[in-house]
Amino acid sequence: MDYKRNILITGGAGFIGSHVVRLFVKKYPDYRIVNLDKLTYAGNLANLQDVEHAPNYVFERADICDYPRMQAILRQYAIDGIIHLAAESHVDRSIKDPFTFAKTNVLGTLTLLQAAKEAWEGAFEGKLFYHISTDEVYGALQFDGTLFTEETKYAPHSPYSASKASSDHFVRAFHDTYGMPTLVTNCSNNYGPYQFPEKLIPLFINNIRHNKPLPVYGKGENVRDWLYVEDHARAIDLIFHRGRVADTYNIGGFNEWRNIDLIKVLIKTVDRLLGRPEGASDHLITYVTDRQGHDLRYAIDSRKLQRELGWEPSLQFEEGIERTVRWYLDNQPWLDQVTSGAYQQYYEKMYGNR
Ligand code: NAD
Ligand code: DAU
Repeated sequence: MDYKRNILITGGAGFIGSHVVRLFVKKYPDYRIVNLDKLTYAGNLANLQDVEHAPNYVFERADICDYPRMQAILRQYAIDGIIHLAAESHVDRSIKDPFTFAKTNVLGTLTLLQAAKEAWEGAFEGKLFYHISTDEVYGALQFDGTLFTEETKYAPHSPYSASKASSDHFVRAFHDTYGMPTLVTNCSNNYGPYQFPEKLIPLFINNIRHNKPLPVYGKGENVRDWLYVEDHARAIDLIFHRGRVADTYNIGGFNEWRNIDLIKVLIKTVDRLLGRPEGASDHLITYVTDRQGHDLRYAIDSRKLQRELGWEPSLQFEEGIERTVRWYLDNQPWLDQVTSGAYQQYYEKMYGNR
């Protein structure tokens, strides 16, 4: 079949990537969607079981740092659009092992950019390299009501955000130097189904269910701006198709929560859905040593995206959290599988240890 577009989505077996792949495979049967993922601990093909047999879906296990593989895949599928999500994404891991973050997030992104430039050189028209980034590149805000805009100066603090900031600069440099059509978006904290349970929301839902301590960093006063993952995927779809080349859009929910207040909502919701008396799990809250360099507050101003492309979040937070908690409670086998590591051994057997 001749496809209208051939789109490469990197990191499609991860949390946000799997929602983007699902949306594109279902919404655009005339596009071929190539999901490229290394399947690190965070990548899990079980996230995509409902689309894995779709005729317009292809999976390639590959490392974005592998230049010859990137060249071969771009050529084989005549890729004309890239949505780049593959990354190491957990701040705590970056504090322990910054090199892996520099390798994947900086060198991996550069490798993919260079392969795309080579594949598209002389024919940039109609091509797009769309890089998915984070609000963490802007650093931290005080409790003063200010928001990150697209003009906010980069000031990353963690090795994770430093690596994402660096990759953003490389993406923009490929536009400014070679004229490659690129685009960057910076999004706030996502939540929803299929998030690896090392991140706050799925980790705490799982711990509440199993009566395990809830490790609150510092005083629990840090603030994050939460967006339901499907709303992020919808924004990516819109921006991929209608965003201005070389531009930047911030994506966020105007939905700020202090960690401790969010944790109390999680406790209440899990207890209610499990039929436990109200307050039954409050004692699980355990204040622990703060994260090193813990950013105080993130909050995104996404008015540019709303004004120019008409995007806005579709879900109220209460509804999103209810849906999310229900999903994790209903999908305990998924949680068990990703926490046991059994799925990793399965993939090594299937695809080898590349
Ligand atoms: P995730 O950790 O759940 O998924 C990352 C995916 O990338 C995994 O499937 C993993 O196997 C794959 N990957 C890692 N290294 C790779 C490599 N070398 N080659 C190929 N694939 C590789 O991450 P996520 O939370 O879904 O985040 C996706 C992207 O969105 C990241 O770039 C992240 O920085 C960005 N982002 C995340 C959030 C959030 O709240 N989760 C918010 C804003 C931006
Ligand atoms: O802002 C976007 C970013 O959001 C993304 O770029 C990152 O990929 C994503 O991981 C996320 O980063 P955070 O560090 O904000 O997310 P995390 O879920 O790790 O932590 C959320 C808040 O909860 C943060 O203030 C730290 C705190 N926390 C986290 C964990 C895992 C705890 O208090 N205890 C915990 O056990």
